[in-house]
Amino acid sequence: MVDWGIYSLAELREHATTSYRQAHGSRPDVLLIEINGEHAVLKDFSHSDRGFSHLIGPLLVFRETRSLARLEGLGGIPRLIRRVNRYAFLTDAIEGTPASQLRNCDCPQSFFDSLHDLLDSMHARGVTHCDLRSSGNTLIDKQQRPWLVDFVASIHQGSRWNLPARWIFKQFVQVDHSAVLKLKKRLSPGLLTQEELAILNDDRGLIERLARKMGRGTRKLTRQLFTSKSQSRK
Ligand SMILES: Nc1ncnc2c1ncn2[C@@H]1O[C@H](COP(=O)(O)OP(=O)(O)OP(=O)(O)O)[C@@H](O)[C@H]1O
Ligand SMILES: [Mg+2]
Repeated sequence: MVDWGIYSLAELREHATTSYRQAHGSRPDVLLIEINGEHAVLKDFSHSDRGFSHLIGPLLVFRETRSLARLEGLGGIPRLIRRVNRYAFLTDAIEGTPASQLRNCDCPQSFFDSLHDLLDSMHARGVTHCDLRSSGNTLIDKQQRPWLVDFVASIHQGSRWNLPARWIFKQFVQVDHSAVLKLKKRLSPGLLTQEELAILNDDRGLIERLARKMGRGTRKLTRQLFTSKSQSRK
């Protein structure tokens, strides 16, 4: 079994076999790493734009690894293997296809049920994903089970007395579930129930719009603040 803890960032990068995302501007490298036939995924901001990489990268790594640590042991969430340094972390690699790459795929009802169940378990641990509108963040494995990646926009439930934070958390719980309905509408529209159609039609709230922006917001703002003009147009 590979001891992922002994490799430096440079050594891990040398073992990259696939690039899911290439670093540029505010984007990290997302790389599939293979060592002795075993796989892991490296998310690494060290090759993003310099200003971004140094100032915001560590914050995003902290945010995402904090959520992954809180969700440890939950099926459907890749295990955090380790924070490699301030700029990069390593997770289990999921063998699955991002929902963004699927068209009308006739995903079974069990897939959407599992996804709602997964969200319930995640929310019970006090974490909302907040960026499930971006369908590349939902993967479907061969057994047609869901997996969630990319917790950079996730938020945590406020303490018991922090009522505004708890209210916001509750709204994002709804937003996560409504993203599943959007996905269902795109992938398996025939499975939508009357109730789900009504929810989709009624899906125009303020928080909903906020959530849509939240997945992109941090990145857009920081891109404008910290990256060069040529990169910020990418
Ligand atoms: N643990 C993982 N196992 C398998 N594939 C993964 C894993 N994590 C990420 N990926 C792949 O890499 C892609 C990008 O990862 P991620 O969403 O975390 O990065 P990102 O920079 O936020 O990209 P985007 O802006 O497209 O959301 C995912 O859509 C997925 O295809
Ligand atoms: Mg993503």
